[in-house]
Formats: sequence, C-alpha cells, structure tokens
Amino acid sequence: MKPRVLVTGGGGIVGSTWQHAAPTADMELRVAGRSTLDITDERQVREAVDAFKPHFIVNAAAFTRVDDAETQREQAYRVNVTGAEILARQAERTGAVLIHYSTDYVFDGKRRQPYREDDPANPLNYYGLTKWLGEEKIRETIQKHYIIRTAWVYGGFGHNFIRLVLDLAARHKTLRFVNDQTGSPTAADDLTDFTSFLIRNADAPFGTYHCSHLGEITRYDQARFIVRTMGLNTEILPVPASYFNPPALRPPYSVLSKEKIIHLLNRRPKNWESGLYDTLKKYYL
Ligand SMILES: NC(=O)c1ccc[n+]([C@@H]2O[C@H](COP(=O)([O-])OP(=O)(O)OC[C@H]3O[C@@H](n4cnc5c(N)ncnc54)[C@H](OP(=O)(O)O)[C@@H]3O)[C@@H](O)[C@H]2O)c1
Repeated sequence: MKPRVLVTGGGGIVGSTWQHAAPTADMELRVAGRSTLDITDERQVREAVDAFKPHFIVNAAAFTRVDDAETQREQAYRVNVTGAEILARQAERTGAVLIHYSTDYVFDGKRRQPYREDDPANPLNYYGLTKWLGEEKIRETIQKHYIIRTAWVYGGFGHNFIRLVLDLAARHKTLRFVNDQTGSPTAADDLTDFTSFLIRNADAPFGTYHCSHLGEITRYDQARFIVRTMGLNTEILPVPASYFNPPALRPPYSVLSKEKIIHLLNRRPKNWESGLYDTLKKYYL
C-alpha cells in the first residue's frame, strides 16, 4: 500500500515543490495550501486528518518573513509554535508520523564550525525563536517525528532567492549582497528528496536532522553564481549586513553539519555549486 502523505503550506517554496516537482509516484500525496488547510485551526486540521488518514504529515507551512516576525509576533507565534503543536497533537492522535521543517536560524552563529543537530539553540531573532519553540512543542507532543532543519532554501517556485536576484537584475545594473553572513544553502528539490527518503525508509531513526548543501558561502557568493550562470552582466558588490540594517538580526555563521545525514544516507549531499546549477538548469535556463 502506498503511504498517504499530507503536505501543508502548499503555496510556499517547499510546499509547491512537493506539489509540482517531487518524485511521489510511490505515495498518495495531498498538498494543501493555507486557504484549504490553516494549521492554526485545530478543527480544520482534525477534519483534514480524519478525512485523508495520512501516514505522514509534512509541515511546510510557516511564517517565514524573518523581518516582519519582529513586529508581527503574535501571528508568527501562532503559525510557527501553535500550528506546529496542533499538527503534532493530531498526528499523535491518529498514529501518523510528523515531519516538520525548521531552520538554521535557531543558532546564534557565534561559532565557526558547522552546527550539529544537538548543539544548543540560541536564536537571535523572533522568527528563529518561534521555530525553536515549535520544535520543542513537537518533541514534547509526539515521539514519531522528524524535524528537518534546513537553510537558505531556493527552488523553482515561490519567493525564493533565485527569483529575487533575477527580478532585481532585470531592473538594476548593480546589486549589493551581504558578504559577512555565512551559511549553507539548500535546493528545495534536494530537501523534498531527503524528506521522501525518510518516508520510504521506515528504519530511519526519529529525531532531528540537518539538510543543506556542502560548502560555506555568503549571499554575495550565491548571487554572483546565479548571475554568471544565467549569462547576465549585472555587477554584484559585497556589503556588510549593516548596510541594509534589517529589523531582525541574522546569525553571522549558520552552516549546518551534514555528518548525520551522510551517515544515514551513506552518501554526501551535493556541494552548493552543483545544487544551485541543477536548479538553475531545471527551472530558469
Ligand atoms: N526559505 C528558506 O530559506 C528556509 C530556510 C530555513 C528553513 N525554512 C523552513 O522551511 C519550511 C518551508 O518554508 P518555505 O521556504 O517554503 O516558506 P514559504 O515560501 O514562506 O512558504 C510557507 C507557506 O506557509 C503558508 N502558511 C503561512 N501560515 C499558514 C497557516 N496558518 N496555515 C497554513 N499555511 C500557512 C504560507 O502561506 P502565505 O504565503 O499565504 O502566508 C506559505 O505558502 C518552513 O518551515 C521554513 O521555516 C525555510
């Protein structure tokens, strides 16, 4: 029997990738956007779960606007903490496994070596705090869970970094990108692949996993690679984060360690250049 998989947040970068691009022939997949499944509405979640009876609930719904979360605290908390708890409760009630996405922004970025799954969290901004509290609610509520922390997710859909760079490049000759925050980006295709692996492999131990590409880069490096690969003449200049002075602080270093998934998958993830090239080729070139 094919596993029934219910994905929330269907309109986002990751949810749309589940909807349109993930190899899911061996699953019975239902992807729900916010208009049909609001994860903060427990009655709606209960009804959706009772109707579809998923074996896996994949939570790709979140309040992800990092700067807005500083001022829209109640809303960010409701989606990222209460919503996660509601899904955990309904998964637990029905025996489903909950797979939940979280973020490198749970870390403060004060170290200079990749963060492991069990390193202490210390979020610098309210978005990161809500994502951490959401993780903790899940750990308290349901044993059968996977929390996948990912970072700098881009892809073929939604408001993602590639789209941002291309939209800006269409309007400006020179662009500025931050060069003093280092992270490890992730293609949404590779994130859904890893999630599918967990769904297909019943013996993958429950718990927290980090999923991003190999390598350590800044947004400046990433933007330069996009512009060059797309054959554009846009000039990309490096600037410190303070140049934009955004409301939310970001960690100066948030590279995720890949040791645990390398051990689980018995192979290394793509490096950041090939991950980015593959996505550009598939969706943009
Ligand atoms: N993108 C990244 O760089 C990144 C990095 C690290 C971790 N993550 C994590 O990856 C996951 C997926 O994020 P994403 O990149 O796909 O973000 P996204 O593009 O912002 O998608 C999130 C989706 O959730 C929806 N949503 C918001 N509130 C909801 C609610 N109450 N009920 C149901 N749906 C709701 C949003 O709808 P509206 O647009 O209508 O609000 C949006 O379609 C999140 O857990 C995020 O924290 C993302």
